[in-house]
Amino acid sequence: MRETLDDRAATLRNRMTDDLTTEGVLHDARWSRAFREVDRHAFLPRFFRQLVDGTWGPVDSDDPDWLSMVYRDRVCVTQLNGDDDAWRRAVDDGAVTGVPTCSSSMPTIMAIMLEALDARRGQSVLEIGTGTGYNAALLCHALGDEHVTTVDVDPGVLERARGHLAAAGRSPACAVGDGELGWPDRAPYDRVLCTCAVSRIPLAWFTQTKPGGVVVTTLNRSIGAGLVRLVSDGGGRGEGRVLAEDGRFMPLRAHAQSWANDVLALARAARPDERGRTALDPTLVVDPRSPFEFFAGLVLPEVVVGHGERDRVHLAHPDGSWARLRRRDRGARVDQGGPRRLWHLAEAGYRRWLDLGRPRRDRFSVTVGPEGQRFHFDGLDWPV
Ligand SMILES: C[S@@+](CC[C@H](N)C(=O)[O-])C[C@H]1O[C@@H](n2cnc3c(N)ncnc32)[C@H](O)[C@@H]1O
Repeated sequence: MRETLDDRAATLRNRMTDDLTTEGVLHDARWSRAFREVDRHAFLPRFFRQLVDGTWGPVDSDDPDWLSMVYRDRVCVTQLNGDDDAWRRAVDDGAVTGVPTCSSSMPTIMAIMLEALDARRGQSVLEIGTGTGYNAALLCHALGDEHVTTVDVDPGVLERARGHLAAAGRSPACAVGDGELGWPDRAPYDRVLCTCAVSRIPLAWFTQTKPGGVVVTTLNRSIGAGLVRLVSDGGGRGEGRVLAEDGRFMPLRAHAQSWANDVLALARAARPDERGRTALDPTLVVDPRSPFEFFAGLVLPEVVVGHGERDRVHLAHPDGSWARLRRRDRGARVDQGGPRRLWHLAEAGYRRWLDLGRPRRDRFSVTVGPEGQRFHFDGLDWPV
């Protein structure tokens, strides 16, 4: 007998959920049931696949690999440059270029964030970044539709998500708005979950949560990123921790570092003010798997990273400081320019991190309030 699409999707969904469980990502039976029972493919009728040259090709349900791609533990990009016509152009004229502006996030990071939220059935949740609607559907499944509010800044994205949610039998409150302002109409919430990355955590999220309410979000830091969980005082302040797990998300639109390409262009091409060698492997500073990377982000705030040909790593800051590294057997060659020597800051930061006992990201706490946002460790603090 031929396997129906529903059977095949159920098999793949169960396999994806089993993998999330055996890899130690999913622990809570409620979220595991939600991942088993909510169709991801209902929210991904079309998306982009990235080709080896970095361009984006179209995928839809006519593609024989559609379902298997949907149920892989991968991000599925659904929009580039905020342009809703790009997918059709990719079908008509071939692969397109662009920066992702909407996606269904990687299931692993979705599961980590949903569990960190620690929401019970009947508690109210505000999701910032509706995207495809898949995460909102998982929230509805676990908490009840009437307790879920989801906001997206892009009216077209929101309308499509609303349609997918309705087709899946789900009806959370869907709103078009800037999630930086929260969504006061349905406040106060027990939980706020942001599925895009923020450069600073909006205070509105803490004024719109009940005392003891929880805010979970990723941070938009090119080096170190950070997934944080904070408890709100209900009056505009929160405190919490950086989680051991990490995820890199697309930024909230107003928090996108639109200057990054310009300053990185300088790092690629400028004549150096200083040339030298370093024993510090650039990978330790810029690779998200490095235990030092989070701390490197603290000593290199607002520094963005680019990767060039033949193992080159570029660092740049909006003040015009830059460093260009080329890996060698032990360490790297380093060229630097601009008002500050970014690589010297990285080296000093590395020595400091060793002196502090090599603290990993989950040793840092975080506070947010009208006076500012800081990371803390052992009596020391740094701006978020
Ligand atoms: C990674 S996607 C969210 C994934 C989504 N939760 C899902 O399950 O598919 C990020 C979304 O954030 C939205 N977004 C960006 N800036 C925003 C803002 N200021 N307010 C609300 N949503 C925003 C984007 O339009 C995009 O749809």
